[in-house]
Amino acid sequence: MKDEIINLLKKENKLSEETISEIKNINIDDFSNVVKELGKEETTYIKASEISKNLNTKFIGKNLFIYNEVSSTNTVAKFLSMNNVENGTVVISEKQTNARGRSGKSWESPLGGIWLSVILNPSVDHSRLPLITLATGVAVAKTFERVGIPNPEIKWPNDIMINGKKACGILTEAVAKFNTIENIIVGVGIDANLDVSQFPEELQSGTTTLKEELNRDGDENLLISIFLEELEKIIELFQDKEYETILKEWRKRSYTIGKIVEVREPFNTYYDAYVVGIGKEGALIVEKIDGTLEKVISGECIIKN
Ligand code: BTN
Repeated sequence: MKDEIINLLKKENKLSEETISEIKNINIDDFSNVVKELGKEETTYIKASEISKNLNTKFIGKNLFIYNEVSSTNTVAKFLSMNNVENGTVVISEKQTNARGRSGKSWESPLGGIWLSVILNPSVDHSRLPLITLATGVAVAKTFERVGIPNPEIKWPNDIMINGKKACGILTEAVAKFNTIENIIVGVGIDANLDVSQFPEELQSGTTTLKEELNRDGDENLLISIFLEELEKIIELFQDKEYETILKEWRKRSYTIGKIVEVREPFNTYYDAYVVGIGKEGALIVEKIDGTLEKVISGECIIKN
């Protein structure tokens, strides 16, 4: 982890090689202070003052760390989460050089997108944790609605779709100590002020961006404030165990329920199935060709109709 963070410092290009080798030898507390210090600066597009100006939250986003370029905001957030940061701390970067997507895939993160990770410390039953990913999907969809996208949809578990194309992905990771989950890192990538032509050719037909859909560039800082506000509202529902309300909001925007899909579970063979719904813990409920019902807890589903 420390090496990866050192790469972050190198990428930030604010420290000489000599200083970096000195940093390698300092203790972890001082090291995390260096990382925190670097995240205090404003970048060309992302500005803490602008985000805070419009932020109406109690705990999410009160602490912001903003970078020009990191390997992955989830990595930096994981590191910070182990080094005394508050619940609701947010790590944002203008670019990522080694961002992670779901199922071990990489994630394109050029300048113009919104790449952020939120550190959460929810005190709830662990079996409900997958619902945080679904809840985050709802928060992104509501954010899109607030900036003028009429009908964003959520493809299980967490792709936010506009007119059938993906505009946002979510990667939730747990930070555990002695088998106990200490923090949840919610990583969100929104294709905001980007052109589809900036993506690799193989991704272009399935990808869209807010800029393409709205025919204009949006205000990134305002978008971040709106998202953090929506996220806090839904995380509060989660803390209050209002799981059914979260599921209802998710189902209302589902892109997946009622469709025939190819289910691709990790380590399992692929099979076709009809999506009946989602269960109370966030699993997809599908009906296989032979009529049996199956719970899909993780994996992918490819829409067939
Ligand atoms: C997906 O595969 O759909 C999930 C993509 C998640 C990307 C975001 S961008 C911010 C955060 N940092 C990462 O490395 N990944 C997530």
